[in-house]
This record gives sequence, structure tokens and C-alpha cells, in this order.
Amino acid sequence: MSFDAKKKHSGRHFCVVGVQWGDEGKGKIVDALSSDFDAVVRYQGGANAGHTVLIGEEEFIFHLVPSGILEGKTCVIGNGVVMDVATFIEELDELKARGLDYEDRIWISERAHLVMPYHRVLDRLQDVGSNGARIGTTLRGIGPCYTDKVARRGIRAGDLVDFARFEALLHENVEHFNRVFRDLHGEKELEVAPILAEYREHADRLRDRICNITDLLWEIDGRGEGILFEGAQGALLDIDLGSYPYVTSSNTSFLGLGPGTGFSPRAVGTVAGITKAYTTRVGEGPFPTELDDDLGEELRRAGSEFGATTGRPRRCGWLDLFALRYAIRFGDIDTLVITKLDVLDGFEKLRIGVGYEGIGDIQGGGGSFPADLERELKPIYIDMPGWTEPTANCRKYEDLPIEAQKYLEFIVNATQCPISILSVGKERSQMIRLDPWLGVSGGLPELPVETKIS
Ligand code: GDP
Ligand code: IMO
Ligand code: MG
Repeated sequence: MSFDAKKKHSGRHFCVVGVQWGDEGKGKIVDALSSDFDAVVRYQGGANAGHTVLIGEEEFIFHLVPSGILEGKTCVIGNGVVMDVATFIEELDELKARGLDYEDRIWISERAHLVMPYHRVLDRLQDVGSNGARIGTTLRGIGPCYTDKVARRGIRAGDLVDFARFEALLHENVEHFNRVFRDLHGEKELEVAPILAEYREHADRLRDRICNITDLLWEIDGRGEGILFEGAQGALLDIDLGSYPYVTSSNTSFLGLGPGTGFSPRAVGTVAGITKAYTTRVGEGPFPTELDDDLGEELRRAGSEFGATTGRPRRCGWLDLFALRYAIRFGDIDTLVITKLDVLDGFEKLRIGVGYEGIGDIQGGGGSFPADLERELKPIYIDMPGWTEPTANCRKYEDLPIEAQKYLEFIVNATQCPISILSVGKERSQMIRLDPWLGVSGGLPELPVETKIS
């Protein structure tokens, strides 16, 4: 058997994941690819996600509904997702109001845990990590819901089907959390009756949509159809491998796919890691290549960097290839998708982070992305010339300014990971599919010592 290191698996299924701190443009890419697949699946995270799709002038922002819905695909919410049914129903109603009534194409795992009203309250009360660090969560109840899942007292979507069970679990949980609210936080207690009434309605609406999605995915696979998996958040927000404690509460990389669906990751042929041509982050936590100056402001303006879920301004900075290489490695990335290349148009000089002082750089090939991010990390940069010509209308690689091509080739060689898609604008059609992929054309680039600036 021959072994092709770049194409490790033969499966027809495809996975799109973020390889930064979220908001890389996953929604746009999933929407663009979904016409090639039969089903689109979310497998982790919850309504903390905000995935934007722009078709013509029409913008959609999805929090729980998979971004493949616009193509009318079978849409699946895996057991690894934490499901806020109220938000989900709002999304369905909004889609319906816009003429997209695809509710009967959506399936929810009976094993998905429900984000309950007390989780949202707790998120607000406890937005702290170790050492009292403020996380700056989306306040969507994500951490508290995953906490309950692991503590084995969570309520799952399947419990809505057996409503007597839901009622019993709700009573137990509200009693528990009222003690926490009262005794630890001096917070108002919650009443069971209104929650019960609300969830009875949700149960009636969603009962027929709740099933064993693992069986469903294997059936789809068995028919020879293709599945597109849609990651939420980004690798560096991963609970295990990200910038802990400034992370979300799920496994955000490709590694979350197996436990989040019960479907074998080995049946997935290609894992595409989405990254912006620069970096952003919302919320607190380390961000070594952050620009908290006029250039950062310029990136925020050019890239309209405001959160799709909370509206918060995103922190902006240069691309960090040391962090990216780490995310590519642990996330088993086969190919990169570079988004928002157009946002760099007009920047005279571009910088790329290639390492951290005293830790390592991409040239050496060594040096680990540190687990202890409390200490200050000083990036090592290389400078590259920018370009002035607009890229938004480029539809072929050759159309791109030569400096943009060089920027991309540097990324490929530094990460030793090919690029398959480029995105040059918000709109669905503003992208370049590279065929063949932009492949590795040399070894690790020499880092000219004289351009190292700390
Ligand atoms: P996601 O969470 O990964 O789906 O990303 P978000 O939707 O939260 O944020 C990405 C933002 O960038 C959205 O407003 C997109 O419409 C926009 N976007 C995506 N790709 C591009 C691109 O190539 N260029 C520009 N200018 N905007 C883009
Ligand atoms: P998408 O899928 C960007 C961040 C929050 C906070 C941390 C923990 O749109 O890329 P949480 O509410 O999850 O407990 O917050 O994670 N965060 C995101 N940042 N994009 C997201 O999703 C995010 N989901 C969570 O800002 O720093
Ligand atoms: Mg987003």
C-alpha cells in the first residue's frame, strides 16, 4: 500500500474547522462547499457560534443551524453540541420568515445537552477561570451546560420527548441551582412553572426532529452520500489544547468530531483548517501578535471586525504562524483555507509572526506552543511587502498581486501545509478554489535574522 503523506485518508467526507480563535469565516466556506455534499453537521459548541453567510445582499448569521441549510441540505446537530432550543427556534422562525422553511430537514441528536435558563444566569455570575481570570464569554450558558454534562446531571434533547422525565430533571436541577444562586451569589431564585411551560411548547415543536443522529450519519454514509462537518470556534479555543483557561468548553478542532457525533473521524477524507490572512480574537486571553495601535484599528475597520454573536469589537493582529503550525499539527489539518485576504489590500508592509522569543520559531521546526500563557510572549516577526491592487475581484490565483502570491507561498512553506481555497470578500462568490492546491514548494523558509524584530 502506498502512503501519500498529504492525503492521509480516502473518505469522501469533509470537515471545516477554525484554526485560530474563531470567526475565521467558517460559515462562508461551509455554505460555499455545501452544494457538493448531502448533509451538513455541527458537532460541538452551541449558540456561542456566529457563522455569517452573505448571498448577494442577503446576510444570514447562524448560531446553531448548520450553515448548509441555505442549500436545503439535510442538517444535523450532533450530540457534542449544547443546544439552546429557544435560540434554535428563533433561528428557524427567522429563516421561515425569509422564505426558507427547511425545518423538516433538520435533525437533533437525542444525546445533545440542553442549555437551560439557569446556565445563562450562571455564565453571567461565574465568568471566571483559574486565578479569577475573566474569560469574557459570550454569556450563552456554554460553560455551565458542559459542566453539567460532565457532572452527569444535564438534561438532554431526548428528555424533551419523554416530557415526564424532563419535568423531573428540571425540578431537581432548578432546586440545585437555586441553592447555588441563593447561598453563593445572593441572586434571585428561578421558578419552575414558567420554564416548564416554555419547554413544553419547545418539546411539541421539536419532538419529531429529535433522533439518533449517529445511526442517521451511518445511513447517509451507507448510501454513498457525502457529509460536510462544520466546526465551531477555533483550535486555540479548544478546552484541552487551546489557550487555557481563556478557551470555550468544547473540543473545537477536528478531534471533537468523533465524540461529538459517534461517526468515525477515519471516514473523513479531508480536514480543512480555516484561517484569516491575519488574526482576531474576541474576549480575554493571550494574543501575542495583537496590534493595539492604529494598525490594529485599521485592520478592525477594513475587516469589519465586530462579533457576529455579541457585537463586541474583535481584537486584531498579524498572522501568527507559530500558533497556526501548532493548530495544524494537533488538528490533523490536510489543507488551509485563507480568508479575508482582501482586508490586507493597501497595507504597505505586512508582518508575519514566525515564533516566540526564547521558545522557538517555525524555521527551527521545534519549540512548543506553550501551555502556560500567563507569561508574556514576544513574537518574532518577518516583514513582507504589501500590495496596493484590490483583490476582491480576483477569481484565479494568477490574478492576485505578486506580493499576495508571495505572502501565501510563505504561509504554505512555513506551515508545510497546502492551501486549497482563498476568500477575497464576504460574498459567497468571492473566492478562489485552487486546483491543484497551492502546494509546498520548498523547505522551511530561511528566516533572515536581520528582519527579526521583537
Ligand atoms: P465564522 O464564525 O468562522 O463563521 O466567522 P464569522 O461569520 O463570525 O466572521 C467572519 C466575518 O468575515 C463575517 O462577517 C463574514 O461575512 C466575513 N468574511 C468571510 N470571509 C471574508 C473575506 O474573504 N473577506 C471579507 N472582507 N470578509 C469575509
Ligand atoms: P465562532 O464559531 C470567536 C470565545 C468567547 C470567549 C471564549 C469563551 O463564531 O467562530 P464561551 O461563551 O464559549 O464560554 O466563551 O470563547 N468564543 C468565540 N470567539 N468565535 C466564536 O465562535 C466563539 N465562541 C466562543 O469570546 O473568549
Ligand atoms: Mg463567528
